[in-house]
Amino acid sequence: RNIAIFASGAGSNFDAIVQAVERGDLEANISLLICDRVGAPVIEKAQRHDIDTVVFTPKVYENKAAYEAALVEDCRSRNIDYIVLAGYMRLLGPTLLKPYQNRIVNIHPSLLPAFPGKDAIGQALDKKVKVTGVTVHFVDDGMDTGPIIDQEAIRIKEDDTEEDVKQKIQAVEHRLYPEVIQSLLVKEESK
Ligand code: GRF
Repeated sequence: RNIAIFASGAGSNFDAIVQAVERGDLEANISLLICDRVGAPVIEKAQRHDIDTVVFTPKVYENKAAYEAALVEDCRSRNIDYIVLAGYMRLLGPTLLKPYQNRIVNIHPSLLPAFPGKDAIGQALDKKVKVTGVTVHFVDDGMDTGPIIDQEAIRIKEDDTEEDVKQKIQAVEHRLYPEVIQSLLVKEESK
C-alpha cells in the first residue's frame, strides 16, 4: 500500500509514521509528502528519509479546485492508495475527497466532537476539562467532522501547562496513528 502524508508544520506525526514503517509495525510505503508551506520543518524530515516531497503554494493557483487537481495528479502518478493528514491546516474540497473517498484520515488533538478546529488543546484548557485526548477520523468536507475511527483519552491535571498537555497528547498520537493506519490497511486486505 502506498501512502501520501499531507502536513503543514513540525511533522512529529510524520516522523512517527515513518519510524513505524521502518520498524516494520506499519506495513506500507510512505511514498509522498505533500506540504503547503515553504520552509516547514516536516520537509527536511522527509528529505532525511528520502521521501518524495511536493511543496506547493496554494495562492499561486486560481482556486482550491485547481491546486487539489494538481495534488490528485501527484498522488495518482505514484499510485497512492491512502492519504494521511498529519497537521495539514487546510479543509479538503470535493476534487480531493471524491477520488479518495473513505481513504483519507486525519488526527485531531481532542476527543471529537469536542473542540474541533484550531487550537484544540487551548480550547480544552479554557473550558477546564479534566479529560481530553486524541481522535483519528475519516475526512469529509467539514472541519474535523468525519466518521470517528478511534480515540484515546488523557487526563489534564490541575497544574498542567499547555506544554504538558501537548506532550501527553503527542505521545498518544505518535503511538495511536500508526496503529490505526495499520489496522485500516489490514481490514482493507481482508475485504
Ligand atoms: C497534531 O497535534 C495533530 O493532532 C494536529 O496537528 C498537530 C500536528 O503536529 N492535527 P505535527 O506537525 O505532527 O508535529
